[in-house]
Amino acid sequence: MNKLFEGEFQFNLASRPNWETGARHRETLMKYLTGLVGDRQGRLCVLGAGNCNDLDLKRLLQVYSEVHLVDLDESALEYGVQSQEVADDPRVFRYVRDLTGAGEELAGFEAASTLPETDLSEIIQRFSQPAALDLPGPFDVVCSTCVLSQLILQAVNAVGDTHPQFEQLMVAIRSQHFQTIVDLIKEGGAGLVVSDFVSSESATDLKDVPDFQFTQYLSQLLSSRNFFHGVHPGVLFSQLKGNAPLAGLVQNVEMLPPWRWDLGSRQYAVAAIRFHRLPRS
Ligand SMILES: C[S@@+](CC[C@H](N)C(=O)[O-])C[C@H]1O[C@@H](n2cnc3c(N)ncnc32)[C@H](O)[C@@H]1O
Repeated sequence: MNKLFEGEFQFNLASRPNWETGARHRETLMKYLTGLVGDRQGRLCVLGAGNCNDLDLKRLLQVYSEVHLVDLDESALEYGVQSQEVADDPRVFRYVRDLTGAGEELAGFEAASTLPETDLSEIIQRFSQPAALDLPGPFDVVCSTCVLSQLILQAVNAVGDTHPQFEQLMVAIRSQHFQTIVDLIKEGGAGLVVSDFVSSESATDLKDVPDFQFTQYLSQLLSSRNFFHGVHPGVLFSQLKGNAPLAGLVQNVEMLPPWRWDLGSRQYAVAAIRFHRLPRS
C-alpha cells in the first residue's frame, strides 16, 4: 500500500462527518461553480472531489449536463455519491486516478532516510511531465478543490522540506497541476483553482477573526511566511499571469476573495483563482 495515499484515505475517512461544519465553504464554492456554467449546460470536472463534502451534487446536476469526479480515493467518491443520493444518476461519473501519475515513485522515498545528497532529479522529471489521466475531456468547467496543498504535502512527507532539491520538486508539482487543469478545459471554457493555504494549527486566531478583518489578517500571515508550502495565493495567481508558460492560453484571470473552510477540529483559509481558457481564434 502506498503510504502517501494511505494518509489521504485516513484524512478523508476522518473528515466524512463534516458536511454541516463545511456548509459555508460549500455554499461559496457552489456559488462560483454554478456561476461558471454559461448559456448552455456544460460538463463539469472536479479534481480532488474526495468525499464531495464541498459539492452539492444535486444542485450541480440542475445546472451541468454531466459531473465528472476525480480522486485517488475510491471509497471517498463512493461515500460522496451515496450520501448525496446520486450514485445511480447516469450523469455522474467517477474516476479513481492519481492526478500526478508519479505518486507510486514518490512513495518510494522516506523523509526520515532521504539524505541531502539523495538525487531527486528523476522524480522531478516525472512531475515535469503531464500525467496520462485518461479522462473524457476537454470539459466546459474544471475545478481543482483543495488538492494542490495535499500533493505538495505528499512531497514533504516523502523527501522532507529541507532537502536541497525540495523547492525544485515543489515547483514541478505545482506547474504540473496547473498544466493538468488547463489541458482539461475546452477552449472558451472556465477553470476554478481552489486551495487551502493556512490552517488554525499555525494561525490560532483564524476561527475568531471577524469577517471584516479577515483579508488583513491573512495578509499578515502571508507576510510572516505563515502558509503551506507552495500555495501562497499570489504564487498560484502568477502561474497563469505575466510570463508564465500557461499565461498565453488563458484570460480573465481573477483572484477571488479568500474565505474560511471549517473542518470541525481545524479551520483553513482558502484562496481561489477563476479564469477562462482562450477561445479558438
Ligand atoms: C482536502 S481533500 C478535498 C476534500 C473534498 N473536496 C471534500 O470536500 O470532501 C483533498 C483530496 O485530494 C485527494 N488527493 C490527494 N492526492 C491526490 C492525487 N495524487 N490524485 C488524486 N487525488 C488526490 C484526496 O484523496 C482528497 O480527497
